[in-house]
Amino acid sequence: MDTSKLSLEQKAELLSGHGPWRTHAFPEAGADSIVLGDGPHGIRREVVEDYSKGIPESVPATCFPPAVAVGSSWDPEVAERLGAALGREARASGVAVLLGPGVNIKRSPLCGRNFEYLSEDPLLSGVLGSAYVRALQHEGVGASVKHFAANNQETDRMRISADVDERTLREIYFPAFERVVTEAQPATVMCSYNRINGVYASQNRWLLTDVLRTEWGYSGTVISDWGAVVDRVAALVAGLDLEMPGTGGASAQEVVDAVRSKEIDESIVDRSVVRIAELTRLGHAEEQEAFDPPAHHALARQLAADCVVLLKNDNAVLPLDGVSRIAVIGELAVTPRYQGDGSSRVNSTTVDIPLDEITALATERGATVVHAGGYSPGEAEKVARRADVAVVFAGTTIEAEGYDRTSIALPGDQVDTIRAVAAVAERTVVVLSNGGVVSLEDWHDDVDAIVEGWLLGQAAGGALADVLFGVVNPSGRLAETIPLRLEDTPCHVNFPGESGHVRYGEGVMVGYRYYETVGRDARYPFGHGLSYTRFEIADLAVEETGPDTATATVRVTNTGARPGKHVVQLYVATDAGEVRRPARELRAFRKVFLEAGRSAEVRFDLGRRAFAYWDITTSGWVVAGGTYRIQLGESSSVIVAEAGIELTGDPIIRELTMESTFGEWSAHPVVGAEFRQHLTRGLPAEHTENAEEAHREGLAMAANIPMRLFTRQAPGLFSDEILHRLMKISGTVPVSRERVPA
Ligand code: BGC
Repeated sequence: MDTSKLSLEQKAELLSGHGPWRTHAFPEAGADSIVLGDGPHGIRREVVEDYSKGIPESVPATCFPPAVAVGSSWDPEVAERLGAALGREARASGVAVLLGPGVNIKRSPLCGRNFEYLSEDPLLSGVLGSAYVRALQHEGVGASVKHFAANNQETDRMRISADVDERTLREIYFPAFERVVTEAQPATVMCSYNRINGVYASQNRWLLTDVLRTEWGYSGTVISDWGAVVDRVAALVAGLDLEMPGTGGASAQEVVDAVRSKEIDESIVDRSVVRIAELTRLGHAEEQEAFDPPAHHALARQLAADCVVLLKNDNAVLPLDGVSRIAVIGELAVTPRYQGDGSSRVNSTTVDIPLDEITALATERGATVVHAGGYSPGEAEKVARRADVAVVFAGTTIEAEGYDRTSIALPGDQVDTIRAVAAVAERTVVVLSNGGVVSLEDWHDDVDAIVEGWLLGQAAGGALADVLFGVVNPSGRLAETIPLRLEDTPCHVNFPGESGHVRYGEGVMVGYRYYETVGRDARYPFGHGLSYTRFEIADLAVEETGPDTATATVRVTNTGARPGKHVVQLYVATDAGEVRRPARELRAFRKVFLEAGRSAEVRFDLGRRAFAYWDITTSGWVVAGGTYRIQLGESSSVIVAEAGIELTGDPIIRELTMESTFGEWSAHPVVGAEFRQHLTRGLPAEHTENAEEAHREGLAMAANIPMRLFTRQAPGLFSDEILHRLMKISGTVPVSRERVPA
């Protein structure tokens, strides 16, 4: 666009929203007014933009499975079909930018918005997030990947400083954003409310410009979370283009004043104006005819069924084949919980009632269904006694944006009901509806089967019925660990922080990385999920394909009697390198469909990044030379095949200084040998007989002493001339700082 067609005042105005959901229009300069709307699993387009009577109702839209479910699908195709359908609905309701997906990492099971996030693992979140964005944008609707970054709790979310070391940001909290940005080029990136190491995300230049644009090559528009801008001018300078919602002209005035007083250059305004004008071209996407609600509801049911995780299925109690009397118990069977509260709440076009859907499928099969509502152990027992199988619907009562949970326990009346039913029923199945993880400990061993339904969207009822009766073979896998106790979770002592700070003290040991590294049992590990058929993994072969890259191939066979989908999970484990590595990390996965008795070969290409860690000393990704184990897992805990590979790694040669320790001098790959020779020569004669031993002992004792101090303690051992010469040669081989794509 031609910025000269607008006055400074007009340009400044364009940098903030026009009301809650729109951008300003300056058609003379090619900037249209477009609508941005939530997101992420359905369209929330408010009927009126008037908040005088509270949050207005939104137009009816399909409530698709929220991210907690999509994460458990482990299936980019699910994310893609979801993104495309959302694109169609967004267009139908005039939304040009859809505020999703949310790819924040589930750091604690207590985070009140975990239902809007995909996983505790960055690779899984990134792959699904980028499939969603690609498909959504293919429909001509812009995405807004959010909330960038380190927004992993709701407590004090608008002010708290997430105090996180850089390696942890780079390895855990950034990669999902990085992948979405580099693979799918989202139209917008939404910054989070919180501060990161003291600096608000909205005015964090390192985050919004250095990392996002310079390193990852982002060229779209950075927008604020709603109300996340604290200082409009500082945010603009940091790289935040569009402030949302509008501030009635106050921010525009601040920007104008800053330019007029020469605090900032007008070119900084122009830079963002151009990006926003470019974004508003999305408004030109051709209006499509209205979407087809019944077709989208059917799609929501299919997608939801692919997200269900079968946690436990003793004696193959599921699917419900050949049963004649089914007791369905619990309020959630008639008043389903299928979405969370807050900005993502969708005014659903219709809602499946689980009891009705179960009754429909049971009737087709000649079975009868009785129901006990509420959670009264006495009532429940009565109907459970008379049935072949009792299906108890349990779950959380409310989860919402704006606050965190304080417990992972199910409500007490539900626990009592499950236990009472399990004590009398022939067989008991528990179906869970929950946005965040719940504890299974009070009743896990009493029941035969557990179906983790998460929040599945408006077609939850139908999807759950499909899984219970085997119309769909469950294929979901846990995208987050289910702990034995809340106290076992890695950030327990550092959540949700205090005095304005939350310390990410667990570092990279988030989710299964922690449980596997410290050997702590979980109730169900990350990646766990059962099927009505069986799969076998065989013939794992790993080959190096280039410097520090490899391929892994494996054969997977459906050895059971039904068609089904299996998730092949590839983890990499290593001790190589100077930093503490998690016991294993998910580096690739693929969901494969196989008819009974069929097999397929799955091939994974592993780039450098699959082996790398973020090296804070060189600010780059480094592959350490050494042994790497490629592990195929049924989950992060159950490894079924393993093969090793030796990698050369990057030459990490650091320049020595007088601050380098004696140990670093001694072990230096370029000058260490010469240094040790000088050392041996310099030792007093009576020690030379045992030079090796003395050297070893001396080395151990002196290893951590900086050379600056060592030369003072052992004057004359090395001449200044020798030290200076060695320091000079030590840095002649450049440190590898190669940047590798996600
Ligand atoms: C939420 C965002 C949402 C925005 C607009 C904020 O409070 O954090 O996720 O997109 O509101 O509703």
